[in-house]
Parts: sequence; C-alpha cells; structure tokens
Amino acid sequence: MRDDFEASFAEQLAAIEAETGPAVAPGVNARLTETPDFTPFCFGYPKPDSDSGAQHPAALLADLTWDAGSHDRASAMLTAYADDAATRETLLRGVDDESQLAVSRILAILVCAEESAVNVFHHECHRLSDAQIAADHQALREIETEERVHAWLIHAARSHLPVPDDIDAIRRRTRRLFMRVASRDVPTHFARLTGLDSGVCISLSALLGSAKVNKIEGFARLIKHIRRDEATHVKKSRDHAVDLGFNPDQFHECYDLTRSGMVGMLEPIASSFETLGVDPDRLFKRLMRFQESRLAGEAALID
Ligand SMILES: [Fe+2]
Ligand SMILES: [Fe+2]
Repeated sequence: MRDDFEASFAEQLAAIEAETGPAVAPGVNARLTETPDFTPFCFGYPKPDSDSGAQHPAALLADLTWDAGSHDRASAMLTAYADDAATRETLLRGVDDESQLAVSRILAILVCAEESAVNVFHHECHRLSDAQIAADHQALREIETEERVHAWLIHAARSHLPVPDDIDAIRRRTRRLFMRVASRDVPTHFARLTGLDSGVCISLSALLGSAKVNKIEGFARLIKHIRRDEATHVKKSRDHAVDLGFNPDQFHECYDLTRSGMVGMLEPIASSFETLGVDPDRLFKRLMRFQESRLAGEAALID
C-alpha cells in the first residue's frame, strides 16, 4: 500500500482491500482462541505444559514449532473446522441418516483413542527427564500436541453429528480395550501402542478407499489428516519402545493382543463400515494379517 496521503480515497480503499487476506467467516478466528467446551468422551486429560496451559487451537498451534509442514497442516485443519457452518455442510450435506450415524460411531471410537493418547504422551513426558526428551528431538511432546489437535477436531466434528443409540456400549467397549492394552511396563506399553496406531492407520485407509466416504468431504479430510500423523506416531512409538529396552522380536506378541482386541471392539459396529462402503470382514482380516509379518507396523502403512 502506498504511504501517500495525496492518493484519492478510492485508491487508498482499493489498496487496503488488496491487502486483506482470504475471507474468513465471522467468528472463525475467535473460535481458535476459545477454551473448548467439549466434554471428554472416554478419558479426561490434563492441560498442556505450555506456559499458558491453554487448550484452545491457537495455543496448540503455538506448540507445534518443530516442523513447519506439520504446523501448516494442523493450522489449515483447525481453521477449517473452526468454521461451524462450513464444517456442518461438509459433514452432512447429501449424507443419508445411516451414514451420518456410521460416521458418528467411528468418530466416537477415534476420539476415545485420541484422549487416551494425550494422557499417555503427557505422562511419559513427565516421567522422562528434560535431557531425555531433548535427546529424543521432542518427539513425544510433538505427538502429545498432535493428539490434542486430533481430539479437538473430532470433538468439533462430533458436535454436528447425530448420537447413535448404542453410543454407551461403544464407549464401554472402547474404554475397556484401552484399559486392557495398558501395561505398567512402559516399554511394553509403547510397543502395544504401535499395534493400535498402525491398526488405526489400516482402518482409516480402508475407509479412505471407499468412494462413499470420500463424498463425505469433512469426514474424509479429517481422517486423512489423522492417518498422516498416526503413521509417524507408529514409527516414533516403536523407536521409543526399543530405546527403553523393548525387544524388537516381541512386537509380534503385542500385536496379537492389540489387534485382536481392536477387531473385537469393532465387530459390533461392522454394519457401520458396510454402510460406508467398506467390507468389514476384509478389514478385520487385514487387521490380523500382522501374523504373517513381523514388520506389520511398517507394512500397514503401505496400503
Ligand atoms: Fe491421534
Ligand atoms: Fe497417535
């Protein structure tokens, strides 16, 4: 803009308008600094360790400093989902009732996983010394913040979706699985987490392979974002487990517990996968295929 007060008002106005960024719906930016009012679905979790301790999206983004790409992706997602009206449109427009309920069931399970993951990584950061975390390139802190972003996004999406009749049973089953895979032995706990996270990647890949899912734009975009982050979590959790002394030959046994637990948890909502154009039997077989490969975590990310 010209710093020239001799310019006509019309010129000044044109210059000001040209400087304005892309149009953002009223209220969107404000939402990014609002304390979320979502009630935890399965597990409550502590505030972040950042100076402000704030849990709103802007504070989470301020913590995502290590990787510009990750920060930009999270920023684009949070800004998009802070626009309530637009998010509602992309989740519900042209989507039949059964599919809305199916998406709602899947997001309920997913948010339980995110809430559990925030706790796991938060407590692990407290357990380790600063020196250990620094040596680990802050990988665990990074994951904790990404999980907080995922939880915020899913809670935002869920607020637009109908609540299925079986929501309490879903919560009970999902909670039970996460309690069952927890181990007092920290290396084992992280090894088991890789089985769960890679299982989440497989399930989200199956969903993203469905044309029907891709038509539910808001849902497809959300699970694509989460899958990308989770793929990196598998690698980081695996490395962390091994760094803590976990024997890599024993990943196989952890997968036995976590993947069969996952299939048992998902079986009662198999028809929701069908509704979304995903063959549940094929997915469940895929989740159990680790038995053929020790490197299931890595293999899982290929498809
Ligand atoms: Fe996550
Ligand atoms: Fe994760």
